[in-house]
Amino acid sequence: MKTCLFTLMMICATAFSVCRAQTPVYLDDSAPLDARVEDALSRMTLREKIALIHAQSKFSAPGVPRLGIPEVWTSDGPHGVRPEVKWDEWEQAGWTNDSCVAFPALTCLAATWNTEMAALYGKSIGEEARYRNKDILLGPGVNIYRTPLNGRNFEYMGEDPYLASQMVVPYVKGVQSCGVATCVKHFALNNNEINRHTTNAIVDDRALYEIYLPAFKAAVTEGGTWSIMGAYNLYKDQHACHNSYLLNDILKGEWGFDGVVVSDWGGTHDTWQAITNGLDLEFGTWTDGLSSNSKNAYDNYYLADPYLKLIEEEKIGTSELDDKARRVLKLIFRTGMNKNKPWGALCSEEHYAAANKIGCEGIVLLKNDNDLLPIDTDKAKRIAVIGENAIKMMTVGGGSSSLKVQHEVLPLDGIRQFAGNDIEVSYARGYVGDTSTVFDGVSSGQDITDNRNEDELINEAVEIARNADYVIFVGGLNKSRFQDCEDSDRKGLELPYAQNRVIEALAKVNDNLIVVNVSGNAVAMPWVDDVPAILQAWYLGSEAGNSIAKILFGIENPSGKLPFTFPVKLEDVAAHNMGEYPGTKRNDGSDITDTRYNEGIYVGYRWHDTRHIKPLFAFGHGLSYTSFKYGKVTASNSEMTANDSITFSVDVTNTGNRAGAEVVQLYISDEKCSVDRPVKELKGFKKIYLNPGETQTVSFSISKDALSFFDTGTHSWVAEPGKFTAHVAAASDDIRSSVQFELK
Ligand code: BGC
Repeated sequence: MKTCLFTLMMICATAFSVCRAQTPVYLDDSAPLDARVEDALSRMTLREKIALIHAQSKFSAPGVPRLGIPEVWTSDGPHGVRPEVKWDEWEQAGWTNDSCVAFPALTCLAATWNTEMAALYGKSIGEEARYRNKDILLGPGVNIYRTPLNGRNFEYMGEDPYLASQMVVPYVKGVQSCGVATCVKHFALNNNEINRHTTNAIVDDRALYEIYLPAFKAAVTEGGTWSIMGAYNLYKDQHACHNSYLLNDILKGEWGFDGVVVSDWGGTHDTWQAITNGLDLEFGTWTDGLSSNSKNAYDNYYLADPYLKLIEEEKIGTSELDDKARRVLKLIFRTGMNKNKPWGALCSEEHYAAANKIGCEGIVLLKNDNDLLPIDTDKAKRIAVIGENAIKMMTVGGGSSSLKVQHEVLPLDGIRQFAGNDIEVSYARGYVGDTSTVFDGVSSGQDITDNRNEDELINEAVEIARNADYVIFVGGLNKSRFQDCEDSDRKGLELPYAQNRVIEALAKVNDNLIVVNVSGNAVAMPWVDDVPAILQAWYLGSEAGNSIAKILFGIENPSGKLPFTFPVKLEDVAAHNMGEYPGTKRNDGSDITDTRYNEGIYVGYRWHDTRHIKPLFAFGHGLSYTSFKYGKVTASNSEMTANDSITFSVDVTNTGNRAGAEVVQLYISDEKCSVDRPVKELKGFKKIYLNPGETQTVSFSISKDALSFFDTGTHSWVAEPGKFTAHVAAASDDIRSSVQFELK
């Protein structure tokens, strides 16, 4: 018996080891990634390689079916996982299990100034993408906020390269910890939506390296993103999706990117450039998916049959193709074929809690005269809520980031819930903006049509506001065309739909007016002096109403800070004052518009500081229901060399009677330099939580990197010896303490 058992075991062990020996290396997840890639590549035919590098449907690429290498499924991004569309159309596929949690827009995430929130966001959305079997999440976006007219600013992380860099890295790591690749977009210089396919950005190297590239670089070199999306626009006359300077020289050359360059949908225009200039995976060409070939339009993609033909005719070799295929294979091994990736989750309680928390931390209290906020529930009997944005769902619309949510709490509902039964909450529309409630076949299910004229609406609002203890106006922009919306820019800085008239009328009849501005962009506020309390509330996703109400009623203490400057007027913005926007159409019969970034590095607060232009609300500004006292900043040394670091420390005390969080900001000024430099630049920040009376010492260590500028002559970062000043600040216009030091 024993002998039989032994023989059986021996047979099994031999069979197992034979099986193991026969397992191809590319399927062996204990083998090194590069060995797996080379093994898979060596087994592939030319046609399989070509198939691997372009789409087979709106959002998927085919993998290598013969080898059991799975399809690559992508989805927008960046605020939630997009609902499923049909194979070849933008219309809904009609699934019933693809509703998601909408997280706050990336402007809100940036406004938390909290890298832990970025990590939470990344992990949460990564889990939703994983549950939905996505391999690539098309986001996050880190294009710099150059003009408040850009319709897509809400999908990005503000005007400062340091802030965006710090926030993008944990987002990327969080998503990728779920075995889902991020696709950081839109690389690069996609700073307006108007003419987005035909704008040629003309930017000097200093602005490119100091302002527009750092967040992408951080996503690559620190976050380790597995893919990146080329932008629609041109740079140096080449489309960014196949741009030899951006993709070959900088991304893959200087930064050593080993991931996949994905084209934006319809961003590919030329086979030769697509082959040689760094594009790896083509999506969305002829985005109706059907126009060019009745059999299979995807065969006509630039990186499909036209590429195959060039190889077959021996007009080009296969080294570029192998490089692209290697990158796509690597991405598949990192995502779809990663056996160790965790399970995902959709619409979990944790995800709603994360959306709520990020929303609360990102809301910015811009103004709060006489401590009007938080609402005193002991005294309030009647609250009047006015404005379309109190009742309009904001997760539907805005372009590719539009979502189908399981639920979205409206501001009015959140306010009603947190006001409780003892406070009467009445509502008036105040203005009618855009009553459309459908995007790409997803309907919010609301009917918000209202045919009354401006005067009727204002009169009704004024009547209910007159006798209220508090008036909360919830307005701003929305996700409709020419507002905060892809493929169009805003037409001006002003609030649309006569909202200024409504706010001014309300301010006349009630002193306790609170304006909640829902937007992803700065808006002009000509009534700012007449309104005692203003909240910047962003697009907050599924939990919008709850997050807003928690701040209004003081359940949460606001701690967001602005990730971009609110200018008083458009001419105060560098791009509109000194630069070009939207640019100048060429006179050569082409459809190209050249946009000269003449303002160079002077973007946002860098411009306001240098030109002494007072903003409406400064970058980094944000109030709290408590107060913070800063001590004197000290430096660990008075001198540093290029090889060491220096540490600045400051004590911050909560001097009010509520617990609260403060974002302590570190700015550096170069006192004297051979090139022009901004007055100061953000080089550190920390969010700290303090109980009443509590003090914490906040420290920042910097190296010479924080003192460097990009030297175009030598194409390198240079820190010139000399005197610098470190400022510890509560906002870019609120420096609390400074200390000088010297770089030897
Ligand atoms: C957008 C991308 C998006 C893609 C796929 C494009 O129009 O620019 O951001 O990821 O569509 O929906």
